[in-house]
Amino acid sequence: GDVAGFAAATGMRGIGYVQMPTTLLAMVDSSIGGKTAINLPAGKNLAGAMHQPAAIFCDLDYLASLPDEEYRSGLAEIIKAALIAERSFADWLSANISAVLSRKPCAIREAVARAIGIKAAVVARDPNEAGERAILNYGHTVGHSLERAVGFGNIRHGRAVAWGMEVAARISLLAGACTPATVEAQDTLLRDAGLLAERPAVPHAKLFDAMSHDKKSQSGEPRWVLLREIGRADYGRWVDPSIVRAALAEVLPE
Ligand SMILES: NC(=O)c1ccc[n+]([C@@H]2O[C@H](COP(=O)([O-])OP(=O)(O)OC[C@H]3O[C@@H](n4cnc5c(N)ncnc54)[C@H](O)[C@@H]3O)[C@@H](O)[C@H]2O)c1
Ligand SMILES: [Zn+2]
Repeated sequence: GDVAGFAAATGMRGIGYVQMPTTLLAMVDSSIGGKTAINLPAGKNLAGAMHQPAAIFCDLDYLASLPDEEYRSGLAEIIKAALIAERSFADWLSANISAVLSRKPCAIREAVARAIGIKAAVVARDPNEAGERAILNYGHTVGHSLERAVGFGNIRHGRAVAWGMEVAARISLLAGACTPATVEAQDTLLRDAGLLAERPAVPHAKLFDAMSHDKKSQSGEPRWVLLREIGRADYGRWVDPSIVRAALAEVLPE
């Protein structure tokens, strides 16, 4: 979807296109909002364009053949949407995680529809990411850095974002934005979703280097999305690097 959208954005300076997502991640996240890009060796999504699709057709039947690992990767973005924007959806996910994981049709339908609703509403209010749209980047500062540090394609996007959310939640706690109970609630949801198995081992120097290339950085310093409570987040926050180091040491020991 990202590559096809980028081709449509640049071919003849932009042609109309339609997104037909076939992965869970594309249905709830990447097909919506018009961000198209390809990765460069220097970083994730570094060549890209904003180009809104004329329509998105989301057929849940595609998910029947999706491998478990791909499905779980999409689930990470669904959980992210709930954590940043809608407490009642996070509670629903906690209560229904096994039905979602076993792909019960009514559970898939509800999870996908609610996640799409959150993303579409945020994008409609702030299509060009002048402000609020940045909350969708929760977990992505470290997530994208992990993807770059271990090599694009060696870790799925959703898994990297799940670890990124784990680091971001610790940063939120250490920066005084949320309580330990909020971090625990996130931990439980991500663990129950099977997203915290296989902790990646990466030198922190590599992650810091990747973070300084992040598009969201200002003067080489990342801006963070911090969790306030389940269902509410802040964006654009500067955080003391010592806090980032402490959070990384706790979540992703070298
Ligand atoms: N543009 C955005 O706003 C945005 C948002 C989130 C993520 N992304 C990007 O999206 C990318 C990941 O996209 P993705 O998760 O859709 O992965 P993908 O397109 O790489 O597909 C993953 C794998 O699943 C297979 N597959 C796809 N549909 C299938 C189906 N129905 N049945 C069986 N197999 C199927 C594909 O062949 C591929 O091997 C990442 O690079 C991420 O950075 C972009
Ligand atoms: Zn993402």
